[in-house]
Amino acid sequence: MTTSEHLMKTYTPLDVTFEHGDGAYLWDSNKQKYLDALCGIAVCGLGHAHPAITKTITEQAAKLLHTSNLYQIEKQQHLADQLAEISGMSRVFFSNSGAEANEAAIKVARLYGHKKSIKIPGIIVMENSFHGRTMATLSATGNRKVQAGFEPLVQGFIRAPYNNIEAIKNIAENNNNVVAILVEPVQGEGGIKIPDPDYLNQLRDICDKQDWLLMLDEIQTGMGRTGEWFAFQHNGIQPDVMTLAKALGNGVPIGACLANDKAGEIMQPGNHGSTFGGNPLMCATASTVIDTIKKDDLISNARKLGKYIVNGFKEKLSDIRGVREVRGLGLMIGIELDSECTELVKLALDKQLLINVTAGNVIRLLPPLILDQQQADTIINTVSDLIIDSLKEKIAA
Ligand SMILES: Cc1ncc(COP(=O)(O)O)c(C=O)c1O
Repeated sequence: MTTSEHLMKTYTPLDVTFEHGDGAYLWDSNKQKYLDALCGIAVCGLGHAHPAITKTITEQAAKLLHTSNLYQIEKQQHLADQLAEISGMSRVFFSNSGAEANEAAIKVARLYGHKKSIKIPGIIVMENSFHGRTMATLSATGNRKVQAGFEPLVQGFIRAPYNNIEAIKNIAENNNNVVAILVEPVQGEGGIKIPDPDYLNQLRDICDKQDWLLMLDEIQTGMGRTGEWFAFQHNGIQPDVMTLAKALGNGVPIGACLANDKAGEIMQPGNHGSTFGGNPLMCATASTVIDTIKKDDLISNARKLGKYIVNGFKEKLSDIRGVREVRGLGLMIGIELDSECTELVKLALDKQLLINVTAGNVIRLLPPLILDQQQADTIINTVSDLIIDSLKEKIAA
């Protein structure tokens, strides 16, 4: 199928159109069935056409889609209560996307700084990070490709290497303007980079000592993906601010910026807002996402199958020349090769499997939390065979 000439050329989609889905599977316009090991880049955690989600959306659409934040929205209040319960955070602002959730976090940090009389508040952000495509979030992002051509960038970000505590201490010693750290608990777009087990604990300590806000971007890691509701829960800490989107709505556009008692008091009427943010349809859907993850114990499934898949790949790939590392946290899995491997996406598609390659040489797998063991085996076998074959060809060439 050719792409419409009326679309801006922001994407280069593969030549496949999906018409419907069911669980971990998608069907294209030629009735071919595919296993989805990417679920819309960590969005459809409950898979496709989940009956509970379909029911909520249809019932809510028949009742009320949208009013305005000028009025009380019962579904929004209920979702905020649920999010507070599973995260231990106190207050929520709802947006329509991940980038907007991070925009809200950046605004919270700046207001926090100004309230402390810091005139030019600085936020520490990481090399190799990804926080979105709006002007502030692309400026926070640690990838020149995302920024190039959009200068002047938004100021007030201080860059540090990821997983490097000394670098943060060094900034603390030399900069009086810092108000917050914004960091992904696992870098997603950056190549499924998992930091040292105590990295977040150490960042928490520094933020406490310096009176900075610890702001976690859990847009990709959140909602059970890593084997906890939120990745910070592996560390037994609490952030001051956390952002969510992606799997929160299982496909309906919703983002959220959550804050603890201290950071949650910073935003006051008039400081921020969104027309669509927190509307009844999005919030009712997200509430059903949370209920379903709980009811079906999908977080345990993510933990169990995540380990199973990583071990499966390690068995098949550890001795293969050209495979640098297999790593994962729950169902956030990366296989790093020595060389570029973007061609594997198309080769996997030909084998009816949806995968992704990020950072040029990291195969990224983000299958739905409803995955079963047989589907996990298909992922392990298909991806391992593809990697082995393609590395053999490269060595022969
Ligand atoms: C960690 C992280 N933050 C922010 C974003 C931006 O989210 P959105 O595309 O919904 O604006 C993404 C999207 O990939 C992400 O992975």
